[in-house]
Amino acid sequence: MSKHPVFPDGFVWGAAGSAYQVEGAVAEDGRGESIWDRFSTRPGAITNGDTGVVACDSYHRFGEDLRLMRELGIGAYRFSISWPRVVPDGRGRVNPAGLDFYERMVDDLLANGIEPYATLYHWDLPQVLEDAGGWPARQTVKAFAEYVEAVVARLGDRVPNWITQNEPWVVSWLGYGYGVHAPGRRSDADALAAAHHVLLAHGRAAEVLRREAPAAKVGVTVDLYPMYPHTDAAEDVEAARLLDGSRNRWFLEPLIGLGYPADMLEHYEAILPTIEAGDLETIGTPLDFLGVNYYSRTVARAGRDPAEPVALDVPGVERTQMGWEVYPDGLKDILVRMHRDYELPDVYITENGAAYPDTRTNGSVPDPSRISYLERHLGALRDAISEGVPVRGYFLWSLLDNFEWAFGFSRRFGIVYVDFETLERVPKDSFLWYRDLIAAQASRV
Ligand code: FCB
Repeated sequence: MSKHPVFPDGFVWGAAGSAYQVEGAVAEDGRGESIWDRFSTRPGAITNGDTGVVACDSYHRFGEDLRLMRELGIGAYRFSISWPRVVPDGRGRVNPAGLDFYERMVDDLLANGIEPYATLYHWDLPQVLEDAGGWPARQTVKAFAEYVEAVVARLGDRVPNWITQNEPWVVSWLGYGYGVHAPGRRSDADALAAAHHVLLAHGRAAEVLRREAPAAKVGVTVDLYPMYPHTDAAEDVEAARLLDGSRNRWFLEPLIGLGYPADMLEHYEAILPTIEAGDLETIGTPLDFLGVNYYSRTVARAGRDPAEPVALDVPGVERTQMGWEVYPDGLKDILVRMHRDYELPDVYITENGAAYPDTRTNGSVPDPSRISYLERHLGALRDAISEGVPVRGYFLWSLLDNFEWAFGFSRRFGIVYVDFETLERVPKDSFLWYRDLIAAQASRV
């Protein structure tokens, strides 16, 4: 008997990363400037003033990363394509050298039996497009569709799985509402406009992919956060409903063809963006799969103003280095609920993992907390599958320690430790644990 939970045959085991977080080489081979290049030079924006200028240097060390993937035994790798590498000026001229890099990567993955899952937008908008209004401006959707055309013209014949957008809530609210991510703007109305255009960009990208690469599977990744009321009191239940509405339903419902939720349309009435005829049909085009990122949960309490619910800091609970509560059951709960309410298409967990302050001792990196986090989340995922949720695969975040956005290199999510001075990679104990788990699933009869 294996000590690991048993997953269905054909279940996809993968790992994930994203362009700005791992590649470095920000000024090489004709790459244009992205909003993260600019934002990370803003004083105080990133812990320790870190930037992605070098990051893990995967642009030059992909061969090494690939060897690690082979050793790990993963069947799939999720990476993102950097828009400013492909279309440095945001629109117009396509940079063949940028596409060459991803073409080599995809060919190497395929040659090694690792299926590529390519994310088309993981937050690195060309800075010139931000200067012209960014995601709150509708013209950015058109620019995105053109960029996708360029990518698909080169890679559409060999990338079997596409993720159009990563975490629309984070793009719009952390980038344009709360200002803690690039481009660092703070306006609720801009955040909502950005959200609408990111969703619309997903729909337009799906049209391009279906036309140019009809055999490929098209999905989108949302970050789902289950919201639990602090008490059974009606005000707390209402607070949880509102937070669930803004974080989960506002994005998921239009993506699965239901349009924006009525209660939230009312809530946002004063600051709604222009929604043109046909937009919701475009956004709601049928998905081949839904990507779900899961890290933690929120406990909601009524605020002084009932329209402003509060996320409670639950005392005494287990947390990762991000301060996020470790709550594996949330993964099962949210998947089961979403499937009950919406009947989900195939689901891939496109990210799940944890940051801990790992250190290297004599060439090894013991990380028992991460192993425990992963074990418990996979147990919860197995339970969700038993309850009928069509989960087809799991991508661990992340293969490598990398540039963790506003936290820079101060948060390590990898199952491979990266020494950011020497760029040396050292597999952590969790890497060995994941390798054994994958091998055990594969050798099951
Ligand atoms: C997600 C991001 C990913 C990584 C993890 C920790 O929100 O998609 O890039 O930063 O969080």
